[in-house]
Amino acid sequence: MNNRIISFWSAGGSTGKTTLAAAFTLALKKYKKDIVLADFKEVTPHVHKYFGIELSDKSNIYEAIENGHNATEAVKEHLQKKQGIWILSGFGMNDFAKFEEKHFFAVLEVVKNEFEHVVVDTSAGVFFSSTYTALKNSDVIFAVAAPTIWSIEDTAQMINFVSNRWGVEKEKFKAILNAVSKEEVDTSTAEKILEIETFSVRYGQKNILKDVTKIAEFLLKKDIEKVIGIKRAEEAKSFGVN
Ligand SMILES: Nc1ncnc2c1ncn2[C@@H]1O[C@H](COP(=O)(O)OP(=O)(O)OP(=O)(O)O)[C@@H](O)[C@H]1O
Ligand SMILES: [Mg+2]
Repeated sequence: MNNRIISFWSAGGSTGKTTLAAAFTLALKKYKKDIVLADFKEVTPHVHKYFGIELSDKSNIYEAIENGHNATEAVKEHLQKKQGIWILSGFGMNDFAKFEEKHFFAVLEVVKNEFEHVVVDTSAGVFFSSTYTALKNSDVIFAVAAPTIWSIEDTAQMINFVSNRWGVEKEKFKAILNAVSKEEVDTSTAEKILEIETFSVRYGQKNILKDVTKIAEFLLKKDIEKVIGIKRAEEAKSFGVN
């Protein structure tokens, strides 16, 4: 199945990953019932705050893996349903001190087995094992950038790093220019710098869900196109500020 693990990542902080990952999951729920939003941000995760739920301590997952047990039941204990979607909250300071790549990989395996689509919110940059695990195992990675030249150039550099050093294929990346307002860099300029398909989400709360829904539909239509050979994906491409 295509596009099973979809990550939201960025070169720098506060570009809108959590906001867009949450909106994307909420948009996807119209079409797909079997979906989870997994917070793979370490130390200061935010998804639980966004949905008004408690951040759970995930020591039981760590213990299960260290003891060589299957982690399914341990992970399931942390799933909470909110606004019609399943949520796995993030990894706080205590978990950060213990969790390594193998633990995050086991968590990802469980949610991948339990759900048809996994939307992952990650930490910015290349500094956490959770980020490494998420990007290594994603089918699609949305690199969220601010609509400024520096943010786009930073994103291009970081994508090259992740691709060359971590071996994540560049074809998996798509870019989203977030919080776009009129005067700033447009998607075609960004596309030239990044050399990847680029979408945009306009500035303002009222636009976020609308624009992100179109991106989700675009991604789903590509799935459908691949499976049953209909060619309607391009229809969804023109939206946002362009
Ligand atoms: N399109 C948008 N229009 C207006 N405000 C936005 C938009 N996208 C995000 N924001 C706001 O920008 C702020 C940062 O967003 P968010 O927390 O999603 O970023 P992040 O990349 O997840 O940050 P971090 O790196 O800390 O995890 C939030 O206050 C959010 O409401
Ligand atoms: Mg965030």
